[in-house]
Amino acid sequence: MQEKDKIEIYKTIEQQIMSVLSGETDTVAQMASVSALLSCAIPYYYWTGFYRINSKKLDELIIGPYQGTLGCLRIPIGQGVCGTAAKNKKTLIVKDVHLFEGHIACDPKSASEIVVPVLDQTSALIGVLDIDSTEKAAFDEIDAKYLEEIVKKVFAN
Ligand code: SME
Repeated sequence: MQEKDKIEIYKTIEQQIMSVLSGETDTVAQMASVSALLSCAIPYYYWTGFYRINSKKLDELIIGPYQGTLGCLRIPIGQGVCGTAAKNKKTLIVKDVHLFEGHIACDPKSASEIVVPVLDQTSALIGVLDIDSTEKAAFDEIDAKYLEEIVKKVFAN
């Protein structure tokens, strides 16, 4: 996909997300709507969803709302792509998941992945947005920029 087309799709979907979620404060409703809208808008997405911090065991992520094939239910913070991004509170782009040591393979079709930390209004980590593609190197800095922007506008406002 051309860079300018990708930017255009992200700008449009960001507007749609903000419009649909205007006034909505429930985290599950927000996560469900963001995954549904992103998943339908971006052609190279294969698995799109959220892992949430387990409020009873803060060193663990639990599956949240998602679109795609069955996801792993729990991921320890610090493990896999999701757990590493959560631990460092930093977006992680993995061009080839098979080269990422400790990658957790929920679906063998996943080839590349981006994970964006989700922070609330107080900058506390509440989960991660995890997106997988069946194409290698599907994600770049443009995906990171817009996904970080969307997550910030929805969950940290
Ligand atoms: N591959 C992820 C696990 C989650 S699934 O992709 C849905 C990871 O290594 O954290």
